[in-house]
Amino acid sequence: MSGLFLYYSLSGNGDAVAEHLKAKGFDVRKVESAKQPPKKFFFQILQCGFNAGRRYCEPLKDYDPDVSAYETVVIGSPVWNGRLSCPINTVLKRTDLKGKRVAFVLYSGSGEAKKAEEQIRAVLPGAAIIHLQEPKKHPETLGRLSEL
Ligand SMILES: Cc1cc2nc3c(=O)[nH]c(=O)nc-3n(C[C@H](O)[C@H](O)[C@H](O)COP(=O)(O)O)c2cc1C
Repeated sequence: MSGLFLYYSLSGNGDAVAEHLKAKGFDVRKVESAKQPPKKFFFQILQCGFNAGRRYCEPLKDYDPDVSAYETVVIGSPVWNGRLSCPINTVLKRTDLKGKRVAFVLYSGSGEAKKAEEQIRAVLPGAAIIHLQEPKKHPETLGRLSEL
């Protein structure tokens, strides 16, 4: 089975998930914003949080939307303002996931995000969702990814 972990990470939690899945045989593709996000957390909350609230599709740097080589695509997003992160809004808009087995890994401070899950259900009702609380700080929770 061929699997891809397609993800965004601003502060390393998504990278911890990527390392774990890479060791399990997944290919890994990290997306990057075309524009640098603010460095300070306060300004990230203002800008990224606000944009996530309006479901903004962040322009990406050199994004490769071709996932045709994979049967399974796992999409990883931090939770911003209760929603999917803006780079992952773009991934969902630009990537043809028809016929793929799709699952999501969300990572957040609280470990819950109903609105982000609703966003996913609206476009991919059959996708499994695993939600981890700060996996960089709690690597023991990465074992839950065996559900994928
Ligand atoms: C702009 C912004 C908004 C956030 N909003 C939430 C939120 O609504 N709920 C939550 O539990 N965590 C929130 N967080 C925390 C992140 O979701 C959490 O730290 C996540 O693990 C970060 O993943 P990353 O390190 O891969 O970027 C927010 C972080 C940022 C930067």
